[in-house]
Amino acid sequence: MGLTGVSNSRSVEYLLRTTLMHTSRSIWPVQRSKMHSVATLVPDRYQMRASSLRLHVKSAVAEQHRWNTLQASEALQHTFGLSASGQHITMPSDAGEQYMIRPCASVQEVETIWWPFMQNLGWNRSSYDLATYIGCSKSKMLLVIPKSTGRPEGHIQATIYDNSTGWVAMFIMDAAHRGLGLGRQLFQACMDEFARDGTRYVGLDAVAEQKRTYERRGFVESSLGLVKCFSRELPSMRPLETHAEPSNGLKLVDIKEIPNNLLVQSDLAHTGFERSQLWTDDYKARPDVFGYAVVDSEQPQTKPAHLVSWTTVRRCSQGYRFGPLYARDVDSARVVLAAAMKKATPGRLKESPLRNDPLSEAPESDISERAQLAVEVWSGNPTAERVFEDLGWKKVGVNYHRMWLGGQPTPEQDEGGLAHHGMFAVFDAAIG
Ligand SMILES: CC(C)(COP(=O)(O)OP(=O)(O)OC[C@H]1O[C@@H](n2cnc3c(N)ncnc32)[C@H](O)[C@@H]1OP(=O)(O)O)[C@@H](O)C(=O)NCCC(=O)NCCS
Repeated sequence: MGLTGVSNSRSVEYLLRTTLMHTSRSIWPVQRSKMHSVATLVPDRYQMRASSLRLHVKSAVAEQHRWNTLQASEALQHTFGLSASGQHITMPSDAGEQYMIRPCASVQEVETIWWPFMQNLGWNRSSYDLATYIGCSKSKMLLVIPKSTGRPEGHIQATIYDNSTGWVAMFIMDAAHRGLGLGRQLFQACMDEFARDGTRYVGLDAVAEQKRTYERRGFVESSLGLVKCFSRELPSMRPLETHAEPSNGLKLVDIKEIPNNLLVQSDLAHTGFERSQLWTDDYKARPDVFGYAVVDSEQPQTKPAHLVSWTTVRRCSQGYRFGPLYARDVDSARVVLAAAMKKATPGRLKESPLRNDPLSEAPESDISERAQLAVEVWSGNPTAERVFEDLGWKKVGVNYHRMWLGGQPTPEQDEGGLAHHGMFAVFDAAIG
């Protein structure tokens, strides 16, 4: 179908330049309206039945998103004078050093720089997270490596899920190598990964400082709201004031009792990301992971509809990180949250120590005073913040800007999608 408002990468380059000059976001809405006008012509011309029309429009939307990703990647190459990046590319920096960008060979290769980055930047992660991030994606972590040392100095992950939805994650350059144009090349290589895969929707959570940079790359902030960081003391320091029990006909169970395929389906329904490599026995078996679900007590847990709410918790440098939290309603969100909070004890924290982590070494009484619970709440759900505030959580004052390539969120995270009332907390900024 000829759906494109602009027909080649030169035109996109022109539009992108215009976007750069006027900070306009017009390129993407132009294509979107064009697509809708073509879609509305379809029934008259082909006299389709409603079901096949839906399929037709669905594939048109998919095609449009593939085109967006590909053209954005090509246009970036033209506009910024970048060479097309393959699996291995070399480029000179302003400082004369030669660098290579390539996918990581193993989790261990990334770990040597990733964990110090997490600790120095205060990104508050678990040392177990890296394998989870890399393992849940079809793609790999891309590294930028000076040829003279062979030691990685930066990384980015083109996270590509089973259903070709994508997330830009872990975009970091070592401080001594910033400002040389390496981050720009790395980002380009990430976009190339998406283009090669034909990834349909690409999102990221931007720190405030980088929002304008991502806008120049074609990303548009979601109008539905920020991802807001909240924190709270451990219940051993400040007990829960509100008690939350499942309502009649519902029961609270350990997340390990929920079949992985139900978690995959529920996660997909809320985010639009199909992550069968994330919701696995391996993830549940991580020593730092626990979680709860509220289920229909009359029904076997075989259908997503029987899963009323669920959350998982992991360790992080400052204590415990909650997320995601999905729920049918506020009450069942509160039940799983309260249950998980009660399990976040100083003793449990010591049982799953992180690498090079002072908190893990501290006595339990210190942990009780120093440790914090952390969560990223999605304010696109108007009731989400209240659930956390009711249980004593407070805003930290750090927010992420959820952005989508071409201003195209997954339908699940768009206006009217399930996330709007069912997603209370995201998994984390790293993988959406
Ligand atoms: C973001 C980061 C990876 C960029 O790497 P870099 O090698 O310094 O970037 P470059 O020199 O290639 O510059 C890339 C672009 O970012 C912009 N940029 C870089 N640092 C910036 C800053 N602190 N504030 C605003 N813009 C910045 C540059 O102007 C440039 O824009 P352009 O290519 O459109 O002209 C690096 O600054 C970093 O590691 N920051 C800390 C981690 C972080 O915040 N990551 C992003 C999370 S969303």
